[in-house]
Amino acid sequence: MTFDSIKSETEEDFVKNSVALLAGKITDAISAKGECIIGLSGGSTPVPVYEELGKRTDIDWSKVFVFLIDDRFIEPTHDDSNQKLVRDSLLASANIPEENLLFPDTTLALDACVATYIMGLIKLFSETPPDVLVLGMGEDGHIASLFPPVPEHAFGEELVLHTETDRFAVHDRITVSPLVIMAAQSSILLLKGKEKIKVFDACVSSETADPVRWPLHISLATGKLTAVLCQ
Ligand code: 6PG
Repeated sequence: MTFDSIKSETEEDFVKNSVALLAGKITDAISAKGECIIGLSGGSTPVPVYEELGKRTDIDWSKVFVFLIDDRFIEPTHDDSNQKLVRDSLLASANIPEENLLFPDTTLALDACVATYIMGLIKLFSETPPDVLVLGMGEDGHIASLFPPVPEHAFGEELVLHTETDRFAVHDRITVSPLVIMAAQSSILLLKGKEKIKVFDACVSSETADPVRWPLHISLATGKLTAVLCQ
């Protein structure tokens, strides 16, 4: 499986490399099509990257559209909410108009939240697929909230899924499906820590594509993944 990788020796370099790569993808998309549609993952790894990215003054943030790759099904003001994480990091500095933000409405009932988010993504992607996704990976190999073994129904026609986890924060999750991940023009995996890099190495050294065990294989199969790594 082919992918690009950028190895960083320190946390500082990891953030700098991640921000430079993301800022480049964003400005390239804006130059090419007048806007950039970016999907953001939550979790702890991307927070310092989002904080620094938001401070970039060479990006026309009014032309950036943000959606969440996944969220926890809790109040949007809860500390475990990914939309709160994005508001407190990237959006603390990046002046992105509210109308350019698309988050799952977790104040709705779960089924209505999924249905509404699907409609929002259909509208967001009506002209073009997402330009760049920011992915993380858990030590079980999950990306987004696609937890291995990824259920067969996840590989259907839906854009958004309800998934569950008992291993990570918040049991009920709203996540984009493999369809969205494979449609992206580019994806950036942000990975920190020896244990996670061992998991990543096992994922990419798999002889055969196995997206049920390794959902990152979906993104790897596009040949459009760049991994930014820090031990
Ligand atoms: C989430 C994320 C999830 C995350 C991984 C890694 O909602 O938690 O979207 O997919 O990227 O769990 O999280 P860490 O960066 O916290 O290790």
